[in-house]
Amino acid sequence: MIRFEHVTKRYADGEAVVKDLSFEVTEGELVTLVGPSGCGKTTTMKMVNRLTEPTSGRILLAGEDVSTVDPVRLRRRIGYVIQQVGLFPHKTVLENTATVPHLLGWQRKKSRERAAELLDLVGLDPAVFGDRYPEQLSGGQRQRVGVARALAADPPVLLLDEPFGAVDPVVREHLQNEFLKLQSQVRKTILFVTHDIEEAVRLGDRIAVYGDGAIEQFAAPSTVLGAPASPYVADFVGADRGLKRLSVTPIEPGDLEQPPVVHLDDPLSRAAAALDGEGARWAVVLDDQGHLHGWLSAEAAGRPEEGPVRGHARRMEAWLPVGSSLKQAFSTMLQHDAGWIAVLDGARFLGVLTPARLHEALRRSIDADANEIPREAVALESVSSV
Ligand SMILES: Nc1ncnc2c1ncn2[C@@H]1O[C@H](COP(=O)(O)OP(=O)(O)OP(=O)(O)O)[C@@H](O)[C@H]1O
Ligand SMILES: [Mg+2]
Repeated sequence: MIRFEHVTKRYADGEAVVKDLSFEVTEGELVTLVGPSGCGKTTTMKMVNRLTEPTSGRILLAGEDVSTVDPVRLRRRIGYVIQQVGLFPHKTVLENTATVPHLLGWQRKKSRERAAELLDLVGLDPAVFGDRYPEQLSGGQRQRVGVARALAADPPVLLLDEPFGAVDPVVREHLQNEFLKLQSQVRKTILFVTHDIEEAVRLGDRIAVYGDGAIEQFAAPSTVLGAPASPYVADFVGADRGLKRLSVTPIEPGDLEQPPVVHLDDPLSRAAAALDGEGARWAVVLDDQGHLHGWLSAEAAGRPEEGPVRGHARRMEAWLPVGSSLKQAFSTMLQHDAGWIAVLDGARFLGVLTPARLHEALRRSIDADANEIPREAVALESVSSV
């Protein structure tokens, strides 16, 4: 959808700030462009909507060379949030949001309705915020107006230049979550610039890591974190990349251990036999609908008592849906001080994740990404490094 072909940009004073850049953002994809200050991120973005022109190479938008498209017509198809938001200070929030529809010649009523709808979408009540001026908003609220304004004419493509740059980490995370929710509904093609690797990893379907005007690595977040392409990338993503990677690696059914399973209404003696048979120290207890109830220790099962498991099982609160991140799994273990957590598919019990299995899952997924194969195809014995 947005395709860079050997793009180089040299400003008047000579040095190239973007060097022979080639990559593509596919339709409906969110690519984050991450790199240190001054490496050429904003310049890259501005060449897409022709706020600046490449010195050589070309950029295609939906197959069309942008240098052949009238800039005004081009920009109608591209929502743009400039670095530092850039709201018009003398216009209200509603008027700011309606800027592009207004420029496109929509009727006033229709533009205002659309603006109100978008403010709602980014979590700002138009009745409360619509008539305020930008200076009467917090930094985070201003950034939301910036995003609403970029979406106003429903462009298929968005260029977002550090849209959440000016807010504290808590508000930022909140805005990122809302933004991801929004993107799952609207599926725009997005080039998103940030210098924050955490943000790049959380939001990007793929990440382009910029060195000095050139891409050092272009891959899925998990690959960038697990198998950095160069010492520069490794350094940029940070020494704690293993931890960051936990947050982008999902729990898969193949990661799970299968302890003995007993039911609330099973006789205790049968449960004891099942545990004994497998030499297990505990069993998972399911209720009569097959939903997770808790667990039963071998010790409790071994009591010389009649009656069902029900009276001896303990409740288990530490569980997660399959597909949750390994980071969530780790954090749930810590929060419940649990040696394992149950993993469910809807209400169905799939198995348990233990710290050892979590570690294995991480190692396998790193190797799988490095070799571009599915995780289950990696034999743990063959895993090269963590
Ligand atoms: N109009 C211009 N004329 C000359 N040099 C420029 C111009 N705009 C940007 N530059 C230079 O080009 C380089 C890249 O700038 P750019 O704005 O693309 O960086 P960036 O990666 O977006 O940085 P930041 O993270 O600080 O926003 C910088 O060294 C900058 O000084
Ligand atoms: Mg910039």
